[in-house]
Amino acid sequence: MTPSIRTFSARLAESAKLIEANLEALLADNARHGEIARPPRLMAAMRHAVLGGGKRLRPFLTIEAARLFGGESPGALRAGCAVELLHCYSLVHDDLPSMDDDDLRRGRPTVHRAYDEATAILAGDALQTLAFEVLADPDTDADPAVRSDLVLGLARASGLGGMVGGQMLDLAAEGRYGAAAMGEGEVRQLQMMKTGAILTFSVEAGAILGRADAGARQSLVEYGRALGAAFQVADDILDREASSEALGKRTGKDQEKGKATLVDLLGLEGAKRECRRLVETAEAALGEFGDRAQTLREAVRFVAEREV
Ligand code: IPE
Ligand code: IPE
Ligand code: MG
Ligand code: MG
Ligand code: MG
Repeated sequence: MTPSIRTFSARLAESAKLIEANLEALLADNARHGEIARPPRLMAAMRHAVLGGGKRLRPFLTIEAARLFGGESPGALRAGCAVELLHCYSLVHDDLPSMDDDDLRRGRPTVHRAYDEATAILAGDALQTLAFEVLADPDTDADPAVRSDLVLGLARASGLGGMVGGQMLDLAAEGRYGAAAMGEGEVRQLQMMKTGAILTFSVEAGAILGRADAGARQSLVEYGRALGAAFQVADDILDREASSEALGKRTGKDQEKGKATLVDLLGLEGAKRECRRLVETAEAALGEFGDRAQTLREAVRFVAEREV
């Protein structure tokens, strides 16, 4: 890891503390406005899924993208936390026995191992609806048009044509539903859906909250797409090269399950080259923001060079 990536990691860890405190508040035990009750077992499972671990990269990206458009956006922390809740739901369901069947996540037992499968499914469901509630809440932004733009964006990124659709393709690529050899273009599309869409939305949410004009918003979407693609290639490289202890999740599992990855198609060196190319694409998309986008430039380098 280069010194600048180390500095960036420290900054990410610092911002994670603020994000964690906000997530903690959203997952308090007491029922909130409009709720009838919060069942303790469900709350405990949701807290297990969300608190105590995780890089918190998605909320960090929302906050930093919003910062490009002037100062702190009070809603950016909330919108970023909404994306993190959605992300945590996707991890809980991704780990289920019927999906990737994993026992370890963020260095701890997965939710279905710590509780049970039904509780894990419900915890994921409730994290998903909570994410949308947070975005739709006037505390996130006073302007209903901004809130509806955020809700629309997260729905598209996380649903049928985004994360959930990508997860379907990911499972199909294992060959569970019949022959499934995938070419490079198909693998790129699968990854753009299962991982890239939500990361892209994390960045776009900052542009929405910052009232960015169409050109600036599009540049950030392009940055997010390249960062999202780099993120999943790096995840696939880490699955092959890193230890389970370092990552806090099982490794070596993609090959075992016959997952479609670019490491498989391009080899480790090819995948690393691809990662570097994606970093350049992401950096190029930030041109118009000049020095103000330095943190976002470092973020994509971190994504590609990360060891966790
Ligand atoms: C892991 O995401 C799942 C993928 C989308 C590849 P992260 O690597 O961001 O996981 P946490 O949130 O830091 O645990
Ligand atoms: C997960 O991809 C993407 C999600 C939508 C959660 P992976 O299955 O590769 O993520 P890990 O390696 O289990 O974190
Ligand atoms: Mg998976
Ligand atoms: Mg998985
Ligand atoms: Mg993986």
